[in-house]
Amino acid sequence: MANVTLVDHPLVQHKLTLMRRKDASTNSFRRLLNELAMLMTYEVTRDVGMQEIEIETPLETTKAKVIDGKKLVFVSILRAGTGILDGMLSVVPGARVGHIGLYRDPKTLTAVEYYFKVPSHMEDRDVVVVDPMLATGNSAIAAIERVKETRPKSIKFVCLLTCPEGIKALQAAHPDVPIFTAAIDRELNDHGYILPGLGDAGDRIFGTK
Ligand code: URA
Repeated sequence: MANVTLVDHPLVQHKLTLMRRKDASTNSFRRLLNELAMLMTYEVTRDVGMQEIEIETPLETTKAKVIDGKKLVFVSILRAGTGILDGMLSVVPGARVGHIGLYRDPKTLTAVEYYFKVPSHMEDRDVVVVDPMLATGNSAIAAIERVKETRPKSIKFVCLLTCPEGIKALQAAHPDVPIFTAAIDRELNDHGYILPGLGDAGDRIFGTK
């Protein structure tokens, strides 16, 4: 699928399988999500811009490359996106963070915005929008639309799990936004849940069920 990166590394797949199991505790679900987020960040930042700085090794002065973490913004779609953030920040600690609050209208399944806060000077920054589940695509589409209003240099979308319906919807609305996912599941059910999936990501991260 064009513009979709399936991160099929064995470590990613193994951890995702453990997370899917209904008897995984909140504690282990959260820990696995954290580890998976780190591994996904490795792929997502593969082409991130670098700059050369001068440093001193114990032996001599040399030029070496660094990432300007401040140019990266992770935009978390509340509330489940928060579960991915910690892991991403642990590998890119200088990244800035934005939040977008959207809830899913249970009847129409459309996204309704209640909060939006991102760093200043977005025009200088590369954005990664994060949400564990790309299901109907409504939240991701609305979040990316909103982020585009701030005119960042680039936008990517990262999730753990998606389905053909979610990818189709997001690509129809934002064909320019690359999608990174650890799995593409079979289908969406009538309630907007991914099958076989892992259930409600927010509830599983925060233990609210
Ligand atoms: N959101 C979730 O948390 N799980 C799904 O399966 C779909 C959307």
